[in-house]
Amino acid sequence: MEAKFIAFEGGDASGKTTQAERVSQKLNAVFTREPGGTSVGESLRSILLDPKEPVALRAEALLMAASRAQLVQDVIQPTLAEGQHVVTDRFLASSLAYQGYASGLEIDQVLYLSLFATDNLTPDLTILIDLPVEESMKRRGNTPDRFEQENIDFHQRVRNGYLKMAETQSDTWIVIDGTKNQETVATNVDQAILSSLQLA
Ligand code: TYD
Repeated sequence: MEAKFIAFEGGDASGKTTQAERVSQKLNAVFTREPGGTSVGESLRSILLDPKEPVALRAEALLMAASRAQLVQDVIQPTLAEGQHVVTDRFLASSLAYQGYASGLEIDQVLYLSLFATDNLTPDLTILIDLPVEESMKRRGNTPDRFEQENIDFHQRVRNGYLKMAETQSDTWIVIDGTKNQETVATNVDQAILSSLQLA
């Protein structure tokens, strides 16, 4: 069977990391996350998430893309080539949602930059764990990173951007209701993977 590439997306505190890790174990996949996942990527991550480090928006988009390029070359592409599945906590759609829809960079330009970074690799399936912004604000911890410090409108634009992508790419995206309890979310995620990729 061909190795599959699955991305989990969603706003902060949506529960997607828990699901991504669980699915990854279940499928015996390699688990990774963005920004980060390589030593170059983790260095970029600490710059990008530092609330004390004001990174210019275009620099932010480039650093996200740089982290992604390193991850694709060092981890994702070789793993898939060896026939093993990959599950990632965030991928290219995060750049479109955060740097594009929420921060205002041109969507097409962010997409172009991301596809350059990934050498045109895109996930076989993107699972959006969708949560109303008010709910994610309630769940959030009290040491917010730079993105979590953004206001409610920003997070609303992130959510709307994700929902728009899910709607326009419904052949490769699935939306899961993140307000449900963890077991229900897990069951729905597994069903989605089974029906879309005949896995899990
Ligand atoms: P992280 O702690 O991994 O957040 P979460 O648990 O919500 O996934 O932080 C990643 C942050 O980086 C998150 O707020 C979204 C942001 N981000 C972007 O803005 N653009 C991107 O391309 C990626 C991958 C992440």
